[in-house]
This record gives sequence, C-alpha cells and structure tokens, in this order.
Amino acid sequence: MKSLRTALGTLVLALLTAGCSLEGDYPQSSVAPTSDFALMIHELYADIFWWTLLILAVVWVVLAYILIRFRARPDSPVPKQIHGHMGLEIGWTIGPALIVVAISIPTIQAVFATQQGDPEGSLVVDVIGHQYWWEFRYPDSGLITANEVHIPVDRPVSFRISSDDVIHSFWVPMLGGKRDANPMRIRPEGEDPKYNWIHLTANETGTFWGQCAEFCGDSHSLMGFRVVVEDEAGFQAWQADLATPVAAPATAAADPAQDTTTADAAPAPAQVAQVDPLVEQGREIFHQQTCIACHAIAGTNAMGEIAPNLTLFGRRSSLAAGWLENTPENLQAWIKAPQDIKPGALMPGVAVAGGNWPATNLTDDQVEAIAAYLYSLR
Ligand code: CUA
Repeated sequence: MKSLRTALGTLVLALLTAGCSLEGDYPQSSVAPTSDFALMIHELYADIFWWTLLILAVVWVVLAYILIRFRARPDSPVPKQIHGHMGLEIGWTIGPALIVVAISIPTIQAVFATQQGDPEGSLVVDVIGHQYWWEFRYPDSGLITANEVHIPVDRPVSFRISSDDVIHSFWVPMLGGKRDANPMRIRPEGEDPKYNWIHLTANETGTFWGQCAEFCGDSHSLMGFRVVVEDEAGFQAWQADLATPVAAPATAAADPAQDTTTADAAPAPAQVAQVDPLVEQGREIFHQQTCIACHAIAGTNAMGEIAPNLTLFGRRSSLAAGWLENTPENLQAWIKAPQDIKPGALMPGVAVAGGNWPATNLTDDQVEAIAAYLYSLR
C-alpha cells in the first residue's frame, strides 16, 4: 500500500511540474493561452477534457464494481446468457448522442464568437504565406516585414490571411489559430478576395512561435515565424524605426568609454561614427548584386518584392523563417547554400541556382561581408 502511495505521489508531482514548465520548454504549447482568442479555445478544450475525465471515472468505477462483484468463483454456475437487449442498445445510442450535442453547443458558440468581424479600432495586419516564408504588411502605415511580426499588447489585432502561391496555414499556438492562408490570385473575375481572418487581443508581451500548419511543399515543416508582442510604446518605436530609411552608412556602436562629454554639458556633440569596413563592403556587394531584384530594404535601392523584406533584419531573432537562430555564422551558411537548409527555397546559393536565378558565385569573403551588412541593419 505504501509503495502504491509513493508511486501515485511521484506521478502527481511529475504531472504538476510538467504543467509548470509548459511555457518555457514548449514555445508552441497550445495549452498556455496568451490572447482572448486562444483562451476561448483553451477553455472549450479544458471543459470538454474535465467532463470526459468525469465520464471516464464513472465508467471505471462501474467496471471495477462489475469485475469484482461478478468475478468467476470455483463453484459459480454459468451466468445467464443474453443475446440482444433493446434497453441497453437504446441507452448506448442515446447516451453518446447527448454527449455529442453537449459538446457541439459550446463549440458552435465559440466558432461564431471567433468569426465576428474586426473589432472597432483593431490593427489590421496582412499575413501572406509564401513557399516557405511569411510576409507581414501593415496596410495603415504601408510598412512591410517578414517572418517576425510585431503587434501591440492589449489592443485588438486583425490578421487578414492570404497566400501568394499554395495553401498555407497561419498558426501561433499560444496566441491562437489556425486559419488557412488561401491563394488570392486564382478567383473568378470581378469577385472580391475571400480572406480568412483571425481577430485577437494579446494579453502578454513576449515572443511567440508560429508555424505553417498546412502541408505546402518540401519545406513546409521549416516554415515558421515569430510574433513579437510589445507594449504600445515599444510597438510604436519599432514601427517608427521600420519606417526610417537606412540610407546613411551603418555605424559601429560608439564605445561609451570614449565618450568624453561630461554629464552636465550641453547637448553632446555627434560622436564620430566608426565605419565598419566589412559592413561597407557588404553593403556595396548587396546593392550591386541581384539581391535587390528580390529583396527590399527601406530607404535603399533594394525594392524587390518577391523575397523577404530585410529592413531591420539585424533585429530579428531568427532567420530562414524561424528556422535558424539569427547569427552571422548561420546567415553565412544560409547565403552560401539556402537549399541545404531549406529544400525548395527559391534563393540561389553560391554554387547552386535557385528559382529563376543562377548561382551567385560569391566568394567566402563576400558572403561574410553581406552577412555583416545585413546583421548591421538594426
Ligand atoms: Cu506553408 Cu506549410
């Protein structure tokens, strides 16, 4: 008996601690809601889970009673044999039917609640799926970014979801989802596009992981993204930075130790900017190569629209659509051979063509310089 109690105690403890660490260890947990939308779905799930557990408990108790009460004994006679029982059959047909009805009522209510139009004053964000990355556009400000979308906390956001090629699906487990991203190019003439929408209000700041949830080709499983939920001031600052052209040469961070201005001096004189030659070399190569045919960087001659927008690229935590940590080393590996990392990627590599583009034939030094330049966009 004591060992049974110890075993049960261990099990309960394991379950409890598993619950505690859900958020940290599982960035795509679907049982740690952080928006009104996700909470609605989670509560539905939790309600049904507990009712199911109750039914399971009743079934187990009845089963245990029957197994013990009617167990075979050495001198037992053969039990009464039954073939067909109208009462039982009606019972086990009607019982489950009632359970299904009981589940469907709150489910249908939740479906309608999540499908209402965009709330007053909501921030509309266009979500456009591509093989294999995500584009995000803010129609109000005209700003564009890729693979890492920023939204404000405690403000309604309406994701307007579509695709540029095949069907993808937009899913951020902790914030809500999922909704198919359907191609908008193929539709009867004169007909309005039928977008899918997700309306939600995030109630926690943080970076939340998203994932394409509809098989869309070779690298479907590598088509992730991030949603950065910020306080209103942080969000506004990020938008302002995104809107600021980065035409001036990037500068290395000024060393505060060399700051000779005193605390009470009048406005400090502009610090002498340290130009990083590697960054400058990368800038030159990037803007002279075919990179700019596909990629855009606000305020420069790079205005391509068919590949991820790279404005403020250096601030992103991930690259290759949420698949790799954004480090200069990973970025170099990606520029050298995108298809090695993401099969089917349309970007050409150093020695391999990609999409309609021939191999770039960049040297290792050139790749390093381009990575340094992109990394400096922050
Ligand atoms: Cu995009 Cu799966």
